[in-house]
Amino acid sequence: MKKIIAIVLSLCVIFGCAGFAMAADGEIIRDYEVSDKIKNVSVAMAADPTTQAGVSWHTTEDAATAVQFVIAEDYNGTFEGAKTFRGSCEKFQEIYQHKVTLTALEPGTEYLYRVGSDVTNEWSDICSFTTDDSDNNFKFIAITDVQAGNEENFTKASNVMKTAVETMPDADFFAHFGDYVNDCTQEEWDWYFDKFSFAHSSLTHVAAAGNHDGNITNKINHGWFDHMFNLDAAPDECIRAEGVYYAFDYGNAHIVVLNTNDMYPMTVQQTNWLKNEMNSSDAQWKIVFMHRAFYSAGKNLIKPDTIIMREQLLPLFDELDIDLVMAGHDHVYMRTNQVKGDKLVEDVTYVTEEFNGVQTTFAVDPDGACHILPGTAGTKTYSINDYVFDCVFDSNIVAECFSQRDIGDRGIFSTVEIEGGKLVYNAYAVDYETGEKELVDTYAIKKTTEGKASDAATLPTDALSTGIAQIGNFIYRFAKMFFDYLFVIIPKLIINAI
Ligand SMILES: [Fe+2]
Repeated sequence: MKKIIAIVLSLCVIFGCAGFAMAADGEIIRDYEVSDKIKNVSVAMAADPTTQAGVSWHTTEDAATAVQFVIAEDYNGTFEGAKTFRGSCEKFQEIYQHKVTLTALEPGTEYLYRVGSDVTNEWSDICSFTTDDSDNNFKFIAITDVQAGNEENFTKASNVMKTAVETMPDADFFAHFGDYVNDCTQEEWDWYFDKFSFAHSSLTHVAAAGNHDGNITNKINHGWFDHMFNLDAAPDECIRAEGVYYAFDYGNAHIVVLNTNDMYPMTVQQTNWLKNEMNSSDAQWKIVFMHRAFYSAGKNLIKPDTIIMREQLLPLFDELDIDLVMAGHDHVYMRTNQVKGDKLVEDVTYVTEEFNGVQTTFAVDPDGACHILPGTAGTKTYSINDYVFDCVFDSNIVAECFSQRDIGDRGIFSTVEIEGGKLVYNAYAVDYETGEKELVDTYAIKKTTEGKASDAATLPTDALSTGIAQIGNFIYRFAKMFFDYLFVIIPKLIINAI
């Protein structure tokens, strides 16, 4: 009976999903007070992190837009004589968003800055960021799905992030794989920025759009994500209504941030752009950040958007030699072994050697990619969707998988360190109240080969030609999804239940 109920629930999830339409669903350097007028200050990753930084903030009233900045070691207690860059201000919903992209910065340099108005001389407190020194060593913190709907839960998630910053005080940036907020109201975003101000005031941020961050399926939320951060690293042709995609080089890695709200199915425009980005890069490491995960163990595993996305992106990631895929959306923890062609890569050689004082086992020059769903830093957790797990993909690929409900209801953050050809990943569970942490997973890859660009032709990303191609893409992806459900997934669900 339990299995029959599970199947019925699965089918409800599948077919109840919007009627298939569109409604899927450092060391802490300094803190600053959120003023009534200037708030939500952040620096987002720019297209060239060695020389650029994308600053954004909100004001509650119309105001001038300026950033004053100075090299930290030259700071003498005043911004007298500091460089001033001016930018754009746009009214959005209840707030005014200000954006300034700083350029011609010096690589590997810490800057102090303040944002505000050089007309009224009203300024934020002093914040900082550091540019990439472009050597082959860097490290970052990753969290996902804070997705709180009240101040208390933002506070709990921020405690997870505080432990992350204490664990990796020299992180170069922090990434969030989407769903910052639950209902995408300005009140929620204000809570988010308030509670995470300790991180945004000193760390460059890599933002990926989640479906709760302003999906076009909810017209009221149209354009929200693009007005919360400076996302001008995105290419000119990127349609910003429901999220943003962009890419950057950091050290010896090329990192692509996808907009997986661009679904049902992902547009030819974005997939062509992805191919161009990865094919033209000779970086040793190729990494993808995105919100929706197509290897997952949560409730979204069997939804149409996940099925379409796996079908579309999996062969593409193989073709583009992606090493690491980090995502969110499903609020459970899962890490795969190396995967290629939707199958476990079995002939992997391992070596154990010291990495920063810790004996670490590396997969050496492995084929395929490792997919990570690093749980959630927030308090909304899901159970493992075990009744459909084996019906969607081969569970042999799974290296680690658990619900945070089964580890004492704790938030999770991850760290990634890259030193030349070595990549070391760690995941920690954190008590929401005390901040006490426990290492719950680790994985490492060692590459002895250099990266190289492909000689593949550059694909079009203009709206006209990709728009025509998108019609065929749309028809094919939907037909394939229905075929998969009718002839693969549902029969497996029934057989498993019998
Ligand atoms: Fe999500």
